[in-house]
Amino acid sequence: MTKTIRSQVALVAVVLLAGTMGFAQSSGEATYRSRCQSCHGANGMADTSVGKAMKVKPVSDPAVKKFTVAAMVEATKNGMGKMPPFKDKLTDDQIKASAEYFHGLAK
Ligand code: HEC
Repeated sequence: MTKTIRSQVALVAVVLLAGTMGFAQSSGEATYRSRCQSCHGANGMADTSVGKAMKVKPVSDPAVKKFTVAAMVEATKNGMGKMPPFKDKLTDDQIKASAEYFHGLAK
């Protein structure tokens, strides 16, 4: 009985720890998921209904692959084509982290 409780407590601790660590490591991913994915798609392939309607280019497109992280940060900050600027909606850190995450998808 006591043993069962103890192992459950240990399990909860591990789950909580994994949760916080995952969040700290992937805040760029978290921002991407909540703010960018609807247009750019889960894997950057723009395969969502909004992405298709707005003709967002997939990350596999040579024009997107050419983008450096700095150029992606710039596009995210100030907007590009039909993409709205994010400079008033996200912090510089969030923009940088989500642009870096997006850039990672383009590999
Ligand atoms: C409302 C839809 C929408 C949202 C939300 C959105 N984008 Fe875009 N994004 C676009 C469109 C449209 C373009 C320009 C067309 C194109 O070239 O893909 C674009 C272009 C870009 C580009 C230039 C490279 C490229 O793919 O052409 C980057 C980098 C980019 N977006 C990053 C982001 C990031 C990071 C976020 C989230 C913080 C985000 N976008 C959110 C629609 C969106």
